[in-house]
Amino acid sequence: MWTGDVGSTTWEEVNAIEKGGNYQFPYDEGGRKTTWDKPASVVGAEHGPIWTYQHTAYDRSVIGGTVYRGKRWPQLDGKYIFGDNYSGTFWAIPAVNRRASTPLVLGQADKYAQRGFTSIVQTPDDRILVTIMGSSSAPNGEIVELVPKAHAASASIAGAGAVAAAVTEAATMSAADVNQSYVTNCARCHGETGHGDGPDAAMLKEQLGAAPTNFHTPAFKAKDRAEIRKAIAEGGAAVGLSEAMPPWSSLFEDREIDALTEHVRNMPAE
Ligand code: HEC
Repeated sequence: MWTGDVGSTTWEEVNAIEKGGNYQFPYDEGGRKTTWDKPASVVGAEHGPIWTYQHTAYDRSVIGGTVYRGKRWPQLDGKYIFGDNYSGTFWAIPAVNRRASTPLVLGQADKYAQRGFTSIVQTPDDRILVTIMGSSSAPNGEIVELVPKAHAASASIAGAGAVAAAVTEAATMSAADVNQSYVTNCARCHGETGHGDGPDAAMLKEQLGAAPTNFHTPAFKAKDRAEIRKAIAEGGAAVGLSEAMPPWSSLFEDREIDALTEHVRNMPAE
């Protein structure tokens, strides 16, 4: 039995579950001691992770996963397939109960990065399906099939057409939609009111030395619209700021980037 074990602020883990096992939360994460004290007596047998990775601006939330046992894709037989909900990366490691070496990268979602896929399952006919959440501009969730590249042309991606249609039909974004998009995608760093104090701000500062912008300062109010839009579309690094500010152009349509640009520009000067 395998699990993707979402961590606290720094590490994600993949664990092989054993009867009576103790997975060391919260005093040890990713094989490292945390600021929590280890209890004087530990219940059960301690187990470190099979695989672990550190948060970046992109990789932040592990999603398990299934041990694939099937004939359709022999190259994946006996491998645990898992991924990261924020970056949209899929990996595979051999499903043996010992610490893995570097996982094989199976794929990287461009459309759904930071939109969140939520599960990976094997069907009785040995296909691998992935569930993906909806968003403000594409309210339908999707079920897609993971297929090796050589087979991609012949494989069907269930639901993709339906979502494309929903996106084109939606007219302009309402103020409520824009605000919802901001809260969903930006507030974890910039804060719900845009003061640079979201729940991830302290962690970004500690790990990457980056402080999410406060959109109410005179310095921000003095900025040019085009430069702000570019930071949102292409990421902080494209405008000489921290790369902790992710690029959003592969996730949003132009109109959503325009709307978010106005949203942060319209936050009042203080
Ligand atoms: C993972 C954290 C994170 C997320 C999520 C995030 N940002 Fe940022 N953002 C940052 C950081 C950190 C900076 C500051 C970079 C610097 O000053 O070096 C920044 C900078 C910016 C800037 C440039 C500000 C300036 O001074 O020119 C804009 C505009 C911006 N973010 C908008 C957004 C919007 C809109 C979203 C949501 C779609 C968003 N950010 C999501 C971390 C984030």
